[in-house]
Amino acid sequence: MAVIPQIIAGNWKMNLTLSQGAEFIDILLSRLSGKELSRQLLLAPNFTLLSMLAQRCAGSGIALAAQNCAFQEAGAFTGETSVAMLKDAGAAYVLVGHSERRQIFGERDDLLRQKVRAVAGGGLRPIFCVGETLDQRQGGEAFEVVISQLRSGLVEFPNRQLIVAYEPVWAIGTGQTATPEDARSMHVHIRKFLEAQFPWGERVPILYGGSAKPENAAELLAQPEVNGLLVGGASLDPESFLQIALV
Ligand code: 13P
Repeated sequence: MAVIPQIIAGNWKMNLTLSQGAEFIDILLSRLSGKELSRQLLLAPNFTLLSMLAQRCAGSGIALAAQNCAFQEAGAFTGETSVAMLKDAGAAYVLVGHSERRQIFGERDDLLRQKVRAVAGGGLRPIFCVGETLDQRQGGEAFEVVISQLRSGLVEFPNRQLIVAYEPVWAIGTGQTATPEDARSMHVHIRKFLEAQFPWGERVPILYGGSAKPENAAELLAQPEVNGLLVGGASLDPESFLQIALV
């Protein structure tokens, strides 16, 4: 098994204004000063905070992700934000296919495939999110659903700059975390798929997301198949985000 440095990513979703984000990052940077972190920290704020955070995080080792992007490069697409714009604002990563985008905004596999390609084509790194619903899990379809999302989203992915996040929908924002064993067994399946699909598949980080918090981060991160966490609610407070990063 390849050794993959762990990533702790905070997805702020539609939370934190400019001043709240500035306060968050000032606290985080002051707590981190003088500490050697073994994990890559990543924050995914709203678009409006990217430039401000990029300025404050310069030289800190904290990287930024956008939460979404357009699949087109430029043009008459009111309300959309291109990968080039996100790069310009300081993002190095983009979340693609988060279950909230799939479920609330109806983003389908073919659109997500185009977005993943747009991100890679624009020189950023997609964090491609997959995960099954409770009904699908209870119906015994979890593996099939996740592999099908991966297969359609990642077909002919053009380079090695890929991250996958497994986020079971039933665990997101519910307080109900997947057990380390649930996470492990899905990550093993995802890894097999990636290895079969890509010559570099053994090196793709696979993150777990869904009610990750300081209380359960250590046991999730202790699974060798779990290469990091994508944290929602618990990433909104710098202290709990830091506790997760330092477990
Ligand atoms: P919670 O950590 O709030 O469950 O959210 C997980 C998530 O959706 C991260 O992308």
